[in-house]
Amino acid sequence: MKHKLLASIFAGFLALFSVSVFAQNAAPLADRHVQKGQNCAACHSENPPAKAVPTEKCQSCHGGFEAMKEKTKDLKPNPHYTHMGDQPCEECHKGHQPSVNMCSQCHKIELKVK
Ligand code: HEC
Ligand code: HEC
Ligand code: HEC
Ligand code: HEC
Repeated sequence: MKHKLLASIFAGFLALFSVSVFAQNAAPLADRHVQKGQNCAACHSENPPAKAVPTEKCQSCHGGFEAMKEKTKDLKPNPHYTHMGDQPCEECHKGHQPSVNMCSQCHKIELKVK
């Protein structure tokens, strides 16, 4: 209960910063991290959080491009191994907004980005 209450307080707080806080089916990535015990400071080195999070920060927990390629090797296309090369995470994964499928700039490729 307490956990849920905290989560909704966070969500309300974040709404101040972003109009489209809620993705269609899921809480934003940052909120899902908080739910798994990764708080604001896990991603943001400044306090209070104010800036975007560099790809290197994501990689400090999730591993480098090789590790990511391996994790999603069963997806077709593998979002972490394409002709676009090593992409910054934020090209697809957003912290507090719905994530995006950057491939759709040029292709009709369906990718559901969490
Ligand atoms: C999974 C990593 C992650 C976590 C955890 C996280 N953030 Fe963020 N945050 C980001 C990213 C990435 C951005 C860059 C903008 C975006 O993608 O939405 C950002 C940007 C921001 C910004 C700058 C304004 C903006 O939207 O660009 C603020 C303020 C912020 N976060 C607040 C918070 C607070 C408060 C928490 C804890 C409740 C938090 N963040 C937790 C990843 C995270
Ligand atoms: C401090 C460590 C840490 C940092 C930094 C971090 N993550 Fe995570 N991330 C986690 C953990 C822990 C999970 C939950 C893993 C699980 O449930 O098995 C997770 C889950 C995820 C998921 C899966 C979400 C889901 O709903 O299944 C994605 C995508 C992700 N992270 C992307 C990112 C991106 C992009 C960044 C940088 C903006 C980032 N992470 C920064 C630790 C981190
Ligand atoms: C081209 C878009 C794209 C880029 C760029 C991208 N991702 Fe992903 N990512 C995806 C998609 C699509 C999935 C699959 C979502 C799912 O599991 O259904 C995914 C899944 C993940 C997952 C969950 C993997 C699992 O265990 O199932 C993590 C963690 C993750 N990405 C982290 C990252 C990190 C860190 C970066 C930057 C180094 C990054 N991603 C760059 C599209 C992208
Ligand atoms: C800036 C535009 C652009 C973006 C963004 C882009 N592509 Fe492409 N893609 C191309 C072009 C141009 C070709 C080559 C034209 C062709 O052969 O159809 C191509 C070809 C491909 C092919 C066919 C390759 C082959 O061997 O025949 C796949 C699969 C593909 N892209 C997947 C992706 C994925 C997945 C993403 C997102 C990570 C992505 N593309 C992002 C422009 C783009």
